[in-house]
Amino acid sequence: MKLFIDTADPKEIAKLAETGLVDGVTTNPSLAAKTGLDYVESLQEICRTVKGPVSAEVLATETAGMISEGRRFAKIAKNIAIKVPLTWDGLKACRALADDGLMVNVTLCFSPVQAMMAAKAGATFISPFIGRLDDAGQDGMELIHEIRTIYDNYDFKTQILAASVRGIPHVRGAALAGADVATIPPDVFKSLLNHPLTDKGLAVFLADARKAGVRIREE
Ligand code: E4P
Repeated sequence: MKLFIDTADPKEIAKLAETGLVDGVTTNPSLAAKTGLDYVESLQEICRTVKGPVSAEVLATETAGMISEGRRFAKIAKNIAIKVPLTWDGLKACRALADDGLMVNVTLCFSPVQAMMAAKAGATFISPFIGRLDDAGQDGMELIHEIRTIYDNYDFKTQILAASVRGIPHVRGAALAGADVATIPPDVFKSLLNHPLTDKGLAVFLADARKAGVRIREE
């Protein structure tokens, strides 16, 4: 499963990219607003840091405006994926931008049928929002399972990008459900390796080596 970072903060992305485990980035208008930075300048910086897909979300709500914003985003770098909402206008824009040869991420997906429609419109990525469905008392992970089944039934190539991820259980569930990608907030990404037995085990190994004077000699 590919791991994207869900933030518009270029500095945070640069730090996490040092792990060598960041496959891409997703941004949205709310995340851009949080940074207080110019959105396009941030995207330029992010695309210099991360070579995988970087999602940039349109603000227009009508097809023509989305296409024009999308084409402007696409000029930033080759790895931009244009993010459009799951509306009729969004899907028309998706088809036009995909026909231009651009990557499109269709966002705000809350149902399997919406995901099927996005795939038919040529989406590169579909973004089902797990956490927001859970917040609404539904089962976000069930949506990922259902989309996986529909896409496999018809051999749709659209990648399932599990979004609105709130913690390790969502990452685990998305991986088990066969999501192609999970986009993860920085704090969740940093917590992915946490396990008390790893820390305890390492402390014991090092203490044993110290006690016995185990050394790794240089050649
Ligand atoms: C990413 O593509 C989505 O916009 C993001 O994951 C939404 O997350 P939220 O529901 O925590 O705002």
